[in-house]
Amino acid sequence: MPEQTFLDIRHLDAGYGRSQVLFDVNIGIPWRGGVAVLGRNGAGKTTLMKTIVGELASSQGELFFDGRDITRRRTEERVRSGIGYVPQEHSVFARLSVRDNLAVGSLTNSDTSAVDRVLEIFPKLGQRLDQPAGTLSGGERKMLAIGRAMLGNPKLLLLDEPTEGVWIGVIEEITERLIELAKSIAVVIVEQHLDLALRVADYAYVLDRGRVALQGGAGEVRNDPELLRYLAP
Ligand SMILES: Nc1ncnc2c1ncn2[C@@H]1O[C@H](COP(=O)(O)OP(=O)(O)OP(=O)(O)O)[C@@H](O)[C@H]1O
Ligand SMILES: [Mg+2]
Repeated sequence: MPEQTFLDIRHLDAGYGRSQVLFDVNIGIPWRGGVAVLGRNGAGKTTLMKTIVGELASSQGELFFDGRDITRRRTEERVRSGIGYVPQEHSVFARLSVRDNLAVGSLTNSDTSAVDRVLEIFPKLGQRLDQPAGTLSGGERKMLAIGRAMLGNPKLLLLDEPTEGVWIGVIEEITERLIELAKSIAVVIVEQHLDLALRVADYAYVLDRGRVALQGGAGEVRNDPELLRYLAP
């Protein structure tokens, strides 16, 4: 586990009804920098993100964020205390324009220049302000989702597959932005693209059937002979 724990996940169990998905998960996220969560389809990565943000209740274990026990806190409270979340699916309001999606994202932000900063980071969005978000390309939609989450001024940003379905050129652009972002806040990235994930992340956890099977520094995990076995379908 990395030193200096900002988000501390202890002995976490979670699932859907009687089907348990996460088993005794222990994860530490430092104040700054990137942490990758890897694992094959169905390993429990999205379930973990939903449990951190409180969309899904844990059945066992504790979550500490910024020194406080948030295990029983509602999603809104977790978001207000600084957890931002870019979900894998339905991350933007399809019928609202880009401008209105950003307006909704900035409701809790009194800093009016925050939207301008997002448009500086993702200039492509500035050219599409009046377009309904549902008609954006996959890459533009991901940028909008990340931009919206950033408007809440998160101290910890959870990104569930921020480059899924995105063209390779735009993947590079998003990666560069995430590397920048991870210099000032904590970024947790769930990614299928191993190279991308380990460029953003200093530390990685690999889930296998809902358990942490492997963890370590990015370079260490990349070179671990077991890694490909855990990622193979
Ligand atoms: N709402 C749900 N109800 C019941 N089971 C679910 C639900 N959502 C996910 N699951 C199951 O939980 C397990 C873990 O799913 P999860 O979405 O967390 O995996 P993942 O690692 O994010 O996979 P992927 O890489 O495909 O996104 C899977 O077996 C999945 O079928
Ligand atoms: Mg998922």
